[in-house]
Parts: sequence; structure tokens; C-alpha cells
Amino acid sequence: MLNIAILGSGQGSNAQAILDAIAAQKLDARIVGVIADVADAFILERARRNGLPAFYVDGAPFKTKLDGAAEQRVLEILRQQHAGVVALAGFMRIVKAGLLRAYAGRIVNIHPALLPAFPGLRAWEQALHYGAKVTGCTVHFVDEGTDTGPIILQRTVPVLDDDTPATLHARIQEQEHEAYPQALQWIAAGQVRLAGRRVLIRG
Ligand code: GRF
Repeated sequence: MLNIAILGSGQGSNAQAILDAIAAQKLDARIVGVIADVADAFILERARRNGLPAFYVDGAPFKTKLDGAAEQRVLEILRQQHAGVVALAGFMRIVKAGLLRAYAGRIVNIHPALLPAFPGLRAWEQALHYGAKVTGCTVHFVDEGTDTGPIILQRTVPVLDDDTPATLHARIQEQEHEAYPQALQWIAAGQVRLAGRRVLIRG
């Protein structure tokens, strides 16, 4: 069974979707820990309500990257909890070399756009302002870049004429909540193979 650790900074709706998929036996995994860099992030509260180990890690002195003492602490928790895969779910820091090395090929992320379009922050807003007609979400492996790693799975979402950033983000999140558990199940079942930059899924 796949041991998943989730790293987040916010609401944790993707963490909830992963939990629900496990409960519904659509995902053969267990969540061995939820780690957040924001002390009062709702993702930690969700973890506690579900009886999951919840850890707050102070990211100081950095604001946008996970490095130094905070990275060490995260690594310590991941090892202690026997995490096999690290799932970033709304984690607002860039993962640096130490963690990437320790969990090479075993860190995944969900991004709210069709990469390589609209990497970075508030991607749904970028898509809306750009005038894209279709956007979506991407589950991908994490590498040293920002939202640049090999793509595992994408789901499309049409941009509607009357969309606001909030309505578009909500529809993207509906797709995220199906895509993330699906991609994790492929990993859990050993169906994922990396061929250069391409991720091949064995049926
Ligand atoms: C999602 O939109 C995800 O794509 C992005 O951050 C958001 C996290 O939402 N990386 P939640 O905390 O899972 O509700």
C-alpha cells in the first residue's frame, strides 16, 4: 500500500478528495501525515478531524521556498512517518534540492492550469485574463523548476464568458478532486513509467 504524505498551506480540499478516494476504495493508499507551513491552515484541521497525524513546520527564515531547517524538519517527519510519496496540495513554497534528492521521482503536485501554460501563482486568474478559452488542471512530478516537471495527468475546463476568477477556480477544483486521486492510484498500482520527460501509464 502506498504511504502518502501531503504538504499544503491552505484549505486542503485536495487532501480531502484524496481521503475520500481512499475511503471509497478508489485509491489503494493511506495518508501517513499532513504537513503545513501555515499554523492555522484549514488543511491541518481537516487532518486532525480525520484522525491523521498533522504537523506544522515553520518555514522561517524563508518566505517562498522550503529550505534549511524547515526542509530538514519536513524530511525528518517524512522518514518518521514512512512516507513513500509526497503529494503537494496547495503548498505555497518551492521545494528545494534536499527534499527533491531524498524523494527523487516521488514528489507530485497539482497545478490549476494546463501546463506549460500559466505556471506560478493564481493560474486560473492568469488564464482568465489572458483570454484562454480552455484551461484545466495538471498533476505532475516535481523537479527543480516551478511547475515544470513531467506531466502525469491533465483535465480540461472550459472558460465561460461570465466566469469570474472564483467561478473558474471552483470548476477547476472539481476536476482537481478527481484527477489527483486518479494519478495517485496509477502510482500506487505501479502503472506509471517515466520515458524521458514523458510519463507513460500502463493500462
Ligand atoms: C489548488 O487549486 C491547487 O491546484 C493549487 O492550490 C490549490 C489548493 O487547494 N496548487 P486546496 O488547499 O487543496 O483546497
